[in-house]
Amino acid sequence: MKGIILAGGTGTRLYPLTKLVNKHLLPVGKYPMISYGMERLRFAGVTDLIIVTGKMSAALFTEYIGSGQQFGMRVTFSIQEEAGGIAQALSLAEPFLAPGEKFVVLLGDNLFQEDITPYVQSYLEQGSGEARVLLKKVSDPRRYGVPVFDEVKQDYIVRIEEKPKQPKSYYCVTGIYMYDTEVFRHIHSIAPSARGELEITDVNNVYAQADRLKYDVLKGWWTDAGTFDSFNEAAIKLRGVQL
Ligand code: DAU
Repeated sequence: MKGIILAGGTGTRLYPLTKLVNKHLLPVGKYPMISYGMERLRFAGVTDLIIVTGKMSAALFTEYIGSGQQFGMRVTFSIQEEAGGIAQALSLAEPFLAPGEKFVVLLGDNLFQEDITPYVQSYLEQGSGEARVLLKKVSDPRRYGVPVFDEVKQDYIVRIEEKPKQPKSYYCVTGIYMYDTEVFRHIHSIAPSARGELEITDVNNVYAQADRLKYDVLKGWWTDAGTFDSFNEAAIKLRGVQL
């Protein structure tokens, strides 16, 4: 199966560390951050990985990862010229996928404990043209995309609100997404947000509106590592972990 790790963006919330190096290469425990997501995807059956990153540190990515051989995967790189948003970064993977193919997408700053194989399996059993996202219960959902549920359509998310001031649940939509190539049609159909980015939440809402967005809830720990607090939390969780 193919997987995509999105590792572009500007990482401004980790300035000045990210003035020097791409966020996903910063050290967390014994390894550069991206290593953990690569390992989790490989464990879930990803054999071919596309890493989308920016121009900054691109040479360091190839130096560290190479062809992917040492990580047990074939790795291809794609360069996002400007930080045009998560959905724009994802669109760069389109040429690497066959029509209708299903795949897993991971935001490179998401770190998590659980084996996601069962969730990937559930997605593979879902109908074509549907999507699946993984959620996590969090104490401050206002920092994230927050799902809205419906009592009738229990298996589905009816809407996602991005960084809401008054969240409608205590869940966040993590940066672990499953799609097939229909997603590219949806990405091409959305407009840039007020901050000028193509937002993944807008893409996921296309699925939600059509009752095509299912979910699972992660049981193990999960954190993003995009702020100093969460970056430090990730380092504590992964201290001493050997890949
Ligand atoms: O971590 C989960 C959250 O990630 C979700 O709950 C939100 O719904 C989702 O929008 C996202 O929010 P963030 O504000 O944390 O996204 P951020 O802009 O920090 O980007 C996260 C990752 O996406 C980053 O590690 C690299 C990748 N990215 C981002 C942008 C903007 C790219 O590859 N290219 C980009 O242009």
